Amino acid sequence: MKKFIDNIHILKDETIIENGFIEIEDGIISNIGESSNNKANTLALDLKGKRILAIPGMINSHTHSGMAALKGAGDDLPFEQWLFQTIIPLEEQLDDEMIYLSTMISQMEMARNGITTFVDMYMMLDSIIKAVDEFGMRAYICRGLQDDSLEDGQRLQKNIKAYEKYHGTANGRISVGFGPHSPYLCSKEYLKKIADVAQELNALIHIHLKESQKESHQYTFRELANIGLFNTQTIAAHCVYADSDDIQVLKEFNVSVAHNPSSNLKLANGIAPIEKMHQEGVNVCLGTDSVSSNNSLDLFKEMLLASLIHKGETKDPQAIPAIVSFKMATSNGANAVGQKNIGLLEKGMRADIAFLDMDNINLFPLIKPISNIVYSGRGSDVIATMVDGDFIYYFGTYPKINEEAIKKQFMEKYVKLYK
Ligand code: NI
Repeated sequence: MKKFIDNIHILKDETIIENGFIEIEDGIISNIGESSNNKANTLALDLKGKRILAIPGMINSHTHSGMAALKGAGDDLPFEQWLFQTIIPLEEQLDDEMIYLSTMISQMEMARNGITTFVDMYMMLDSIIKAVDEFGMRAYICRGLQDDSLEDGQRLQKNIKAYEKYHGTANGRISVGFGPHSPYLCSKEYLKKIADVAQELNALIHIHLKESQKESHQYTFRELANIGLFNTQTIAAHCVYADSDDIQVLKEFNVSVAHNPSSNLKLANGIAPIEKMHQEGVNVCLGTDSVSSNNSLDLFKEMLLASLIHKGETKDPQAIPAIVSFKMATSNGANAVGQKNIGLLEKGMRADIAFLDMDNINLFPLIKPISNIVYSGRGSDVIATMVDGDFIYYFGTYPKINEEAIKKQFMEKYVKLYK
């Protein structure tokens, strides 16, 4: 079915097409441009008299959506204490239903903030995938893998089974990858095993690398490359302690870096050398990490921080300009997952779109769109979000789910979790 949005302002590169149109057919942008004469089609978006700007849906390149119940747990603790004494013991109590409900809550927050795609790392993939299928987001779902327990082989086997069962389902919205947690929770032999499987399946690898100072001398990226970890599409989250040689390896093997400025600051892990990576041509994308290390799922905040902290760090006001942060949250995220038809608003791309209220006073008058979105924008400027041409958030509602019922079930389980 054809859908048609008229009288819409459209972000095209760094400028705005005023009063343009977007035509959507079978989830794809079949036509887009300046004003139209074709008024006969279905109106997909009631603009409610507002000046609305369409921008590409944002891509959250690193998160753990099943952690919604852990928001605020262990705030202001040191990294190791936060992870091993607070987060992991709580995670051991999470069951299938709580992961499903948490993934629903996380998607509500992401959709409300204009995010259309996320790259996840967590456990109980059946529950996560059920939630993504129902909610309507696009997701790259990777099972968190670690080999320091008796469950070992089972975890990787479960990941492989999930790949076979779900990869490419929901009209291609759901992709399954592999999520070795980190070199400190996975031996080299185990990483090699995962890398071999991922390469054979041509699947995404999603891993945390050099997040904390303790890891800075534990391994080099060259060692990881030598065991074949980077032979498939890889997203390395954080890389705060990547040195010059590590950065060369990222470039050589086309590894994408998911930069998570809020999480790195909050856990006091430091500031990643993103300006250097950018200068070297490494594909850097943006992530929120989880709501227990951020504590929100809002890429507007991450874009702002990315542009601010690297100026402060390098003492260079030209470091990570607004357009670079914006690309990190959109087209670079698409590159990171190897998806050529998201991250831009062009004919032939998937209709993954966020709609902003241009009259929100913090954005007004929105004459310099990229700069205004990055430095003055907020998630709350989003009034609607669509994936594959279907609204997943629309003027305060989530059209595909029962928000109240999910919140109620979540709260019932949440109260028991903290008893
Ligand atoms: Ni993480």
